[in-house]
Amino acid sequence: MVNIVALMGSPRVQGQTSLAVEAVLKGAAACGEINVGKIWLNQLKITPCQSCDSCTETGCCRLRDDMGKVYQAIIAADALILAAPIYFSGISAQAKLMVDRCQPFWAAKYVLKTDVFDGRKRPGIFIATGGQPLYEGQFIGSVYVVNLLFKMIGVKNIGNLTLPDVDNKPLTVRPDAVAQALELGKALMRAE
Ligand SMILES: Cc1cc2nc3c(=O)[nH]c(=O)nc-3n(C[C@H](O)[C@H](O)[C@H](O)COP(=O)(O)O)c2cc1C
Repeated sequence: MVNIVALMGSPRVQGQTSLAVEAVLKGAAACGEINVGKIWLNQLKITPCQSCDSCTETGCCRLRDDMGKVYQAIIAADALILAAPIYFSGISAQAKLMVDRCQPFWAAKYVLKTDVFDGRKRPGIFIATGGQPLYEGQFIGSVYVVNLLFKMIGVKNIGNLTLPDVDNKPLTVRPDAVAQALELGKALMRAE
């Protein structure tokens, strides 16, 4: 049983980002038994990182809020999906809030030099949806942010699914995009 954690960064539960995640999960399910834990970041109460630096001493965040569940899920995951809509050419605030609160993982790795993940390198996929037709740099910022996050949380990125133009052409009329998502889901299960 592969424990897949999907960090859902869109406020729209039935939106395009969610549809893309569903297609990836369908692909994964075709390759073996999966247990999916979806975390709807928009529904959690997460305080923005206060840059207090206490995690550089303890390796933990001193804030007590819903991020606690997210830390646990990230550590326990066998595979990870981060999915977010593009807002102003970056990931949604819901997703970025969670990313910034992953600073304790940075502190553990680089300041305290401990390995929270016991050497486990889990496969991960980043899914980003943009409403506008493809434009230069549409996904660049988001990919940089998520690559850095994955590095901090012991995740090997096995592929990005970046889907432009979803406001005009939803996934229901894009079999090519759905096929791409299915293949990434299969790759997630096959990754070493
Ligand atoms: C505040 C806001 C900012 C947005 N900025 C962009 C943008 O910079 N580039 C873009 O392609 N789409 C932009 N969009 C459109 C969203 O990316 C699009 O509606 C979303 O990916 C659809 O996914 P969803 O159904 O999961 O919400 C923006 C939407 C909102 C609400």
